[in-house]
Amino acid sequence: MSKILVTGAAGFIGSQLLHKLIVDGNEVVGIDNYSYGHDDNLLFEDGDYSKYVVKGDIRDKDVLVELFDKYHFDYVYNIAGIAPLPDCQSNPAEAISVNVGGFANILEFSRKYGVKTVVQASTNAMYENETEFPTTEDFKSKPTLIYPNTKYCAEIFAKSFCDTYDMNVCCVRFANVYGPHVDCLRKQPPFVGYLIRELYYNRTPIFHSTGNQARDYVYVDDLVNLLIAVQSCKGFDTVNCSTNTSYSVRGIYDIAKMIMGKNIEAEYVDSSNYWKKYPELYEGAYSIKQSILDHEVNKFSRCDNTYAKEKYGWVPKVDMYEGMKNMIEYQVELFDKLNK
Ligand SMILES: NC(=O)c1ccc[n+]([C@@H]2O[C@H](COP(=O)([O-])OP(=O)(O)OC[C@H]3O[C@@H](n4cnc5c(N)ncnc54)[C@H](O)[C@@H]3O)[C@@H](O)[C@H]2O)c1
Repeated sequence: MSKILVTGAAGFIGSQLLHKLIVDGNEVVGIDNYSYGHDDNLLFEDGDYSKYVVKGDIRDKDVLVELFDKYHFDYVYNIAGIAPLPDCQSNPAEAISVNVGGFANILEFSRKYGVKTVVQASTNAMYENETEFPTTEDFKSKPTLIYPNTKYCAEIFAKSFCDTYDMNVCCVRFANVYGPHVDCLRKQPPFVGYLIRELYYNRTPIFHSTGNQARDYVYVDDLVNLLIAVQSCKGFDTVNCSTNTSYSVRGIYDIAKMIMGKNIEAEYVDSSNYWKKYPELYEGAYSIKQSILDHEVNKFSRCDNTYAKEKYGWVPKVDMYEGMKNMIEYQVELFDKLNK
């Protein structure tokens, strides 16, 4: 049994990681400031896990002192973060403060209290300018947008801590993660959550560009298994968590329609309005460039997962149909409950 801290524990991924670690017999504490997370995520078939989560901010040293003093954690998972790209883009200082500054706090406390391994929620979004596929961990280009830059900087500081103090930090670069608990209700829900929501309410989903753009997706249970496997990491490491398979917008939408028994055609529009819910990005003396929106909408991703297999013995097991089925079942139940 290990003592484990999970930050961002009321979010989509953090909640499921916390649940699995507790079911496996560990002593786990979560922390979340509930800026995006909610207690519904902590309701599982075998009970309510919200009692394991402390309300607090990873930038608040007083909260962290209390937790680290009390538990002396073996492992720390930094899953907290500001994930939606347009949120980061429209409030860069806050994104940097949480995704970089908050993580620096976690690293510093882990150093002082002798944490065996820190695992950081990193992202394949930092491959946004890559042109070689499948992309490997030693990618060549640098990111452009604020969100991937925050995660890229976080990795640089993780390496700094490992080089300076001989700590163990594994930065797991997630592909697009999907599964039960994806937040379908937020201002800009992740694509898969959005399309399930629109189909549930019999609305026409609006997709940007042609729908042929394709990305790498990984199911949340597979991701959680890799997050546990990397506890054995030595020194600084980066590892892709991906299926090495790219699914197009149209392909995923067809699977969802089939599972939900709906026959609604999607509407395809151009990318200029992609982030229209964030007018601040279009206002001001310098507004967001059309080429950036085009690039983000049409971005292709496929990430090599050979390293995760060879180093950590991990293979993704859930295919898109099965994963979508699980996600839709959960999501439909949630919408039914909200509509009562
Ligand atoms: N979902 C994906 O496809 C994906 C892909 C790559 C990387 N990631 C990364 O994985 C992590 C989890 O993503 P998610 O999809 O579960 O997002 P999420 O928004 O559901 O979860 C993030 C959680 O962090 C919490 N949080 C934010 N700022 C905090 C702070 N200052 N202190 C404490 N808690 C704070 C939020 O309230 C939320 O519950 C994020 O760091 C994200 O960048 C996610």
